Amino acid sequence: MYFKTTQEHEELRAKIREWAEREIKPIAFMLDQENQFPREQIKDFAAQGYLGLPFPKEYGGMGKDILSYAIGVEELSRVDGGTGVILSAHVSLGAYPIFAFGTEEQKQKYLVPLANGEKIGAFGLTEPNAGSDAGGTETTAELKGNYYILNGEKIFITNGGEADTYVIFAVTTPGIGTKGISAFIVEKGWDGFTFGDHYDKMGIRSSATAQLLFNNVKVPKENLLGKEGDGFKIAMSTLDGGRIGIAAQALGIAQGAYEAAVEYAKEREQFNAPIAQLQAIQFKVAEMATKLRAARFLVYSAAELKENHEPYGMESAMAKKYASDVCLEIVSEALQVFGGTGYLKGMEVERAYRDARICTIYEGTNEIQNVVIASHILGKAAKATNAPVKNKKKAGITGPRKKIMFSEGTAEEQVEQLVEALKADGHDFTVGIDIDTPIIQAERVVSAGKGIGSQENMQLIRDLAAAAGAAVGSSRPVAEQLRYVPLNRYVGMSGQKFTGNLYIACGISGAGQHLKGIKDAATIVAINTNANAPIFKNADYGIVGDVNEILPLLSKALDDGNPKQPAPPMVKMKRAAVDEPMPAPVGRYVCLGCGYEYIPENGDDEADVRPGTSYKDLPEDWTCPDCGEEKENFIPSSKEV
Ligand code: CAA
Repeated sequence: MYFKTTQEHEELRAKIREWAEREIKPIAFMLDQENQFPREQIKDFAAQGYLGLPFPKEYGGMGKDILSYAIGVEELSRVDGGTGVILSAHVSLGAYPIFAFGTEEQKQKYLVPLANGEKIGAFGLTEPNAGSDAGGTETTAELKGNYYILNGEKIFITNGGEADTYVIFAVTTPGIGTKGISAFIVEKGWDGFTFGDHYDKMGIRSSATAQLLFNNVKVPKENLLGKEGDGFKIAMSTLDGGRIGIAAQALGIAQGAYEAAVEYAKEREQFNAPIAQLQAIQFKVAEMATKLRAARFLVYSAAELKENHEPYGMESAMAKKYASDVCLEIVSEALQVFGGTGYLKGMEVERAYRDARICTIYEGTNEIQNVVIASHILGKAAKATNAPVKNKKKAGITGPRKKIMFSEGTAEEQVEQLVEALKADGHDFTVGIDIDTPIIQAERVVSAGKGIGSQENMQLIRDLAAAAGAAVGSSRPVAEQLRYVPLNRYVGMSGQKFTGNLYIACGISGAGQHLKGIKDAATIVAINTNANAPIFKNADYGIVGDVNEILPLLSKALDDGNPKQPAPPMVKMKRAAVDEPMPAPVGRYVCLGCGYEYIPENGDDEADVRPGTSYKDLPEDWTCPDCGEEKENFIPSSKEV
């Protein structure tokens, strides 16, 4: 065995390195500072065929091997970790599932433009309730005629907004867990498919990361990827390959930081000599170089296994885990070599230090990589037979809420019903607080989201706050990007927490981080034009409507013409009890021999019994998986179906 890349690989490396040094390096700090996607540069990169590195020429690709692709991601990441993941997410996550699971028509229509670089791809799996537990997917796709109707939300999507083609995972058969998930090819621009804000991240800031929102998006039947129910397996095997990309990204980030540290150690003099002559620094360099070499072997070997169609899921998980773990160590040591200078913005090691951090988190946390590795060695961990069935909608981020929508009658009538409901809950609008009351002390807040539109419309918010006796708040983008209110007035997990009695969200779609900041509110009201905005699933009362129409009506309805009396010290109101009982189990049978419970939703993997099979449809020779008891020795343990 001779561990060496070929001359062709090294020539490719040299070309991509030269491109990255010329096109990305000079602007990397600017991209980082401004959270900017290198659109023009990616077009140029695409024009040279690199977006199709590992795909066959017949599909518009470069026809290179997986190792060449890994080298491509490594070389971009060596200069800028954000640019590296643009390539990785495009190839491994956006294009690969179409290449591996698409029909010939799907490949011609979607893979060819992705591979020849005309289009960018992305992958939508993660959701607020489905991160590491990807099987908890809640986005739904319901077949109606010739279309699947897609509804739901995806978060943290790399290339989100910039990509043209998305592979999206959604539940087609609810209640049966991972086997009810299907994959779809979805195009940017389709009605009802919109993007949330571009996340403001710690690192990889040149890559775009956005929330995807699906509101009754019509996906043609022919855009189903694979068969119904294949989605989870498509996602998992796509991620097996994706992890090679992230491993290569970590390797590149570490390589860049290492090289910078070595160069600096030769230049920087202390105690009358370059610090490279100090053993303390020499040992750091030796450790870094050794870790890099070990990581590189793992990454390249996983790439070779994939290229040669050998099993590689465990090896790619090992490569991703190891390369990203040592990447954190290497960037930290590299920064240490630079000392105080490395701590300054604009220094490459400072950016590498931040860019590196995501690599142990995305495409499966390193803890999940351990689960994957261990399951290859020891088999799949047993699951409790009474584990709750997945894909059951959980309460929203703000906990159980009434979710009452006022949709009957005119806008005035809807507003009247809302005001009556609020008064019936005990909100007293004869009293009020100052609109500048700090959010954490406020009993009520009227908050503006980006849906408020132009800055003049903030007057609508101030008027409503005055009429409701509330303080003014906002979502993060309204404070940070639009600067309509000071930064200390935005509400969210990273901003101010609202724990008072009444929160009126105006034009706020309800990103997870915002919702976490209002989860302790006694009552949440939402006003938004998008009926499928996540805020409505997290609110007690909602009106679907334009803020320009609804807010003046609401201000009028809350204003009784008298000045507000100063509000007494806040008495925290109880949240309305919401009756959302877990549906009673049905069709379960318990084994008289050992107490094992047969749950139809789970079926019995070992005996090839599909989830959804009722007890009476179990084969007559089926026996208890735990103790071997005959089928007839089971008795009902729940209601009959
Ligand atoms: N390939 C094919 N099928 C696979 C598979 C694989 N690698 N791994 C599992 N499956 C199959 C299993 O065989 C099983 O099928 P059967 O029931 O027919 O046997 C089915 O999938 C379900 O498997 P599990 O029971 O093991 O599933 P689980 O619900 O316990 O989850 C998990 C397993 C490994 C924890 C998985 O949920 C997981 O990988 N989670 C992490 C998700 C992740 O990596 N997200 C990253 C998002 S993308 C991203 O981050 C991109 C970016 O920004 C750049």
